[in-house]
Amino acid sequence: MSAKREQTERKSAPIGVFDSGVGGLTVAREIMRQIPNERLVYFGDTARVPYGNKSKETVTKFSRQIVRFLETQNVKAIVVACNTASAYALDEIEQELDIPVIGVVKPGAKVAAQATRNGKVGVIATAGTISSKIYTEYIQGINPDIYVVGKACPLFVPLVEEGLLKDPVTDEIAMRYLSELKDIDIDTLILGCTHYPLIRSTIGRIMGEHVTLVNPAYETARELKELLEKEDLLNPMEPALGTNQYQFYVSDAADKFKTFANSILKYGILSAKIINIEEY
Ligand code: DGL
Repeated sequence: MSAKREQTERKSAPIGVFDSGVGGLTVAREIMRQIPNERLVYFGDTARVPYGNKSKETVTKFSRQIVRFLETQNVKAIVVACNTASAYALDEIEQELDIPVIGVVKPGAKVAAQATRNGKVGVIATAGTISSKIYTEYIQGINPDIYVVGKACPLFVPLVEEGLLKDPVTDEIAMRYLSELKDIDIDTLILGCTHYPLIRSTIGRIMGEHVTLVNPAYETARELKELLEKEDLLNPMEPALGTNQYQFYVSDAADKFKTFANSILKYGILSAKIINIEEY
């Protein structure tokens, strides 16, 4: 095959996106919006979710299996859409792959470091992401004078998955979680978990207008576009009619995944296939 033809084929290859379950769809959604020509292969580890309370070793093992599966789909780049997996496993994954890999933590941290005016940044995320201190590390790597305070908000994930996006129960829990951050007077808050952008309005209302909310899903899609541009990998053409532009794979409960996906994505999901991820 000629080098030119090979590069054209590489450009039209899909991007692999993975998460512990449905949450990473907030990242997939941003990619669909910002780079609409791209094809995606999404994997949600619905059999083994949540990752947020598991150890680094376990999350890294799971992430490596998923990456091996995505490689069989001939992806041209990989997006680690899960904050916990980005916190724990990104370095290992990067070392193993020779295609571009991007996680959600760095892009969010970068924007937060630029956005803060009073030098106080809050991070809300899973227990795993908070205890890894990864956001603090990146932000202080950019500006060591920024004070970063993390708060684990484990109940947000089930509340979102139960569809309680605008509900007094969610308000009450959010008020409890966020009061600490309000007392410290942060002016920037990172929504450091895939699910949190879906309750952004509740979080924003409680924190107040003076607090800038950073959505790593949005920032990651923006950085992904730049990365693909730099690597000359952007897909120049719309995928041909009838090709499956977006493909979804899960490790369990495909119907539940489909229902959730259809509630947040503009495109109706035709199918989500179950695979045995332990085989990879
Ligand atoms: N996707 C996870 C994250 O962003 C949240 C859900 C989980 O705990 O697996 O950290």
